[in-house]
Amino acid sequence: MGLTVGVFDSGVGGLSVLPSLRRSLPRARLVYAADSAHAPYGERDEAWLQDRSLRIAHFLRSRGAALLVVACNTATAAALPLLRARHLDCAIVGIEPGIKPAVAQSASRRIGVMATQATLRSQRFSRLLAEYAGGAQVTAQGCTGLALAIERGDEARIEALVDQHTAPLRKARVDTVVLGCTHYAFARRWIESAMGPGVTLVDTADAVARRAASLVDDASRPAPPLEISTPEMPPLASSNGETMNIPDAMKTLKPSEGDLEMWTSASPIDLEAFALRWLSWSISAQPLRV
Ligand code: DGL
Repeated sequence: MGLTVGVFDSGVGGLSVLPSLRRSLPRARLVYAADSAHAPYGERDEAWLQDRSLRIAHFLRSRGAALLVVACNTATAAALPLLRARHLDCAIVGIEPGIKPAVAQSASRRIGVMATQATLRSQRFSRLLAEYAGGAQVTAQGCTGLALAIERGDEARIEALVDQHTAPLRKARVDTVVLGCTHYAFARRWIESAMGPGVTLVDTADAVARRAASLVDDASRPAPPLEISTPEMPPLASSNGETMNIPDAMKTLKPSEGDLEMWTSASPIDLEAFALRWLSWSISAQPLRV
C-alpha cells in the first residue's frame, strides 16, 4: 500500500495545492477534506480554528494519512504547532505566505500580501515578517469576503472584492504580490488584471509540495522518522515561490478515481460542480461529518 497524504483547507482553496502535490508525489493517494460548511476560516478565532483543524486531521488520519498537508494559511497560522504536538508520528506540512521569495524577487522592494485577517493578525505572520521582510516595505491587506466569494464561485463579487482589496497595493506601488491564502489562486486572473502589467504574483503551492516530498524521502531513510514532525522545521517561506497560472496548470492534471478521495462538510454536489467548472476535473465527493 502506497503513501496516503491527507490535505485540508477551509474549503476549495486547497485544491490549488493539489496539482503541485500530485507532481511532487505522483504515486501517493491524496485524500482531500474541504471544510466548506465552516468557511471562511479567515474571520474565526484561534481556538475555533484549532478545534476544526484537530477534528479534520483526526479524520484524515483515520483515512490512512501518514503525511498531512495543511493547505490553508489560516489554519497553519492558528494550529500547526498544536497539530504537530498531537500527531507526533505523522509528518505535517503547513503553508505560509511567501514573504521571503517575494522580497527576493522584488526589484522595488515594495511587496503586497493578500491574506485573511486571521493570518495577518497571527504571531506566525509577525515572525515571518520579522525574519524575512528585511528592509522591504510590506503592505498587508486582509481580504475579507474574498474566500467566501470564491467558495460560491461568484465572479462578479470576486472581481469587485479584488478591485477593493488591491487598491492599497496599487497605491503603495508594489511590484510583487504574495497570495497568502490558497483560495486566491482562483482569483489570479482578476488580481493580475487589477494590479496591471509588471506585477508578479507569488504563491507557495510548489514550495509546500517540494517540502512534503522531501519529508517522504526523509521518512524512507533509516534515520529516526519521528524527527520529521518536530515543530522546529524550517519555515516553508524559505523555499522559492514560483508563479504560474494554477487553474490552467490544474486542468492538465486530471486526478483519476482511486488515487484521489474528496470529502466536504458542505454539499458534495457543490464540490463536484466547483471542480468541474473551475478545474475541468470530474471528481466524486463524499460527505465529511466531523
Ligand atoms: N484558504 C484559506 C487560507 O489559505 C482560508 C480562507 C478562508 O476560509 O478564509 O488562508
